[in-house]
Amino acid sequence: MNKVAQVYEGKAKKVFSTEDPELLIVSYKDDATAFNGLKKGQIEGKGIINNRMSNILMDMLNKAGIPTHLVQELNERETLVRKVEIVPLEVIIRNIAAGSFAKRYGVTEGSPLKAPTLEFSYKNDDLGDPLINSYHVIALGLATQEEIDTIRDLAFRVNDELKRFWLSRGVTLVDFKIEFGRLADGTIILADEISPDTCRLWDSKTGNKLDKDRFRRDLGGVEEAYQEVMRRIESQV
Ligand code: TMP
Repeated sequence: MNKVAQVYEGKAKKVFSTEDPELLIVSYKDDATAFNGLKKGQIEGKGIINNRMSNILMDMLNKAGIPTHLVQELNERETLVRKVEIVPLEVIIRNIAAGSFAKRYGVTEGSPLKAPTLEFSYKNDDLGDPLINSYHVIALGLATQEEIDTIRDLAFRVNDELKRFWLSRGVTLVDFKIEFGRLADGTIILADEISPDTCRLWDSKTGNKLDKDRFRRDLGGVEEAYQEVMRRIESQV
């Protein structure tokens, strides 16, 4: 399958059409942004790691019965995926308080939550991806009640699978963001990516941050953290 034309460029990926109207090619960049694009940088080799990691994780989720957009990895930065219409929601699952949740509710970062939580942000850069509830989602016509129910159910199943996967590799899954899309027939599937850009991953023993927070918070050792999580995965795949 070949790239025909670039149809979209996001902060971390480019998307290309192919000869097949139902398939797209995503190409992962090394560009990194934070705070809605205010902070910009490069994380050398990130595109290669995120492509590989996202594909390994989506393949695992597919095998666990969670439908994803993954079709086939094409090369170290590019993957063939099913074309979807993205539901404009960032679906965030949390197991441990961190980031905006810890700040918003005045909880110490690292406090375990009594139950996993789910929240939605409206994917809209002009508005800064505001937090949104399911009533608002329906009122704005972003998704139907049935779609929201499917998304919630799939997101918690993704959490169970990812938590188990990372735990066996000495990594604690603190929280993550995923996105869903609709196929032409309306079926909801997991899309976008799952990577250290979109997850908080802490070393289970030391608590060391092995994710994009090293970039967001200027902690240093960014490339090394991405390489370390990849090494943890490849030691067992
Ligand atoms: P938050 O605590 O900043 O709301 O982030 C929650 C999770 O979502 C964390 O794993 C990082 C991820 N995330 C993204 O993937 N994209 C984003 O734009 C933001 C703000 C967070």
